[in-house]
Amino acid sequence: MYLVRRNRILRTNASIRNLVAETTLTPNDFIAPLFVDEGEGVEVEIASMSNYYRRSIDLTTKEVKELWSLGIKSVLLFIKCKDELKDNTGKEAWNPDGLMQRTIKAIKNAIPEMIVMTDVALDPYSIYGHDGIVENGEIVNDPTVEALAKMSLSHAQAGADFVAPSDMMDGRIGIIRKILEHHDYTKTGIMSYSAKYASCFYGPFRDALDSAPGFGDKKTYQMDYANRKEAIRETMIDIEEGADIVMVKPAMAYLDIIREIKNAVDVPVSAYHVSGEYAMIKAAAERGWLNEEKAILESLTSIKRAGADLIATYFAKDAAKLLNK
Ligand code: PBG
Repeated sequence: MYLVRRNRILRTNASIRNLVAETTLTPNDFIAPLFVDEGEGVEVEIASMSNYYRRSIDLTTKEVKELWSLGIKSVLLFIKCKDELKDNTGKEAWNPDGLMQRTIKAIKNAIPEMIVMTDVALDPYSIYGHDGIVENGEIVNDPTVEALAKMSLSHAQAGADFVAPSDMMDGRIGIIRKILEHHDYTKTGIMSYSAKYASCFYGPFRDALDSAPGFGDKKTYQMDYANRKEAIRETMIDIEEGADIVMVKPAMAYLDIIREIKNAVDVPVSAYHVSGEYAMIKAAAERGWLNEEKAILESLTSIKRAGADLIATYFAKDAAKLLNK
């Protein structure tokens, strides 16, 4: 054969493959989600997320120091609210001495350079396990947005670098930006979960925070997984309303959406590699059906190749260790 193009030349050995690799993962790409609980010295493994833990503030701070030493620049906080503090207004969400607010302060105090992002949605605080206020069996948009604005301001006041609204109510980015501006929080960023789908892959997360919806599902606010154009529309509106970073969630089953959004916008795009995606790899690896390390790197590289500038992933620490090897 006299071939003009021999594509295998660029795959001959690791050196040339590395030289021509189009996508390179680094710990700078990762956002590490953390589950925080009350108490001291508390470390509880999440039943459906092996080797992932819910920790009290002291051990969370210790973990954040380790993440920083591995090169991870951002954490995304979720708290487990005590049952007796849950109601249908979400008011514990803006308690200045609430668990979230104390956690933000502790982390910023210990590692000021770590970018602290906070989940903004009412589900951990809701007796109904819904992301918003419930009236007559419905999740009402506008009163929920008022609550989310108060919650966001409270996170900013505690020192959060970014608030990350994950609720999918209409108009919340605009109102959050307005309240931050009004109170002179001009350095607080907004990472919007702009294309968040109603997904079964959030199951293990709801175990972690005991936040499964008590009735119905989240399909009246989270997106239908059959839709693609709707993701662009949602994302464009969030950017117009003031989002600094937009997000697609989940990640692996939505790589097409990540790419579409990456091509359509000029702000950084993040993707959330969610709890169920973590659980799938862990469960298969525990059975010896998948090589865990390879599955982690292939999955995260694919998400980045699809167009994600940032990846929120429960594998942040494992991947950083692999990449630092
Ligand atoms: C809360 C929230 C959820 C996740 C992030 N923020 C759960 C949900 O919407 O039901 C899921 C994260 C994961 O599964 O890893 N609004």
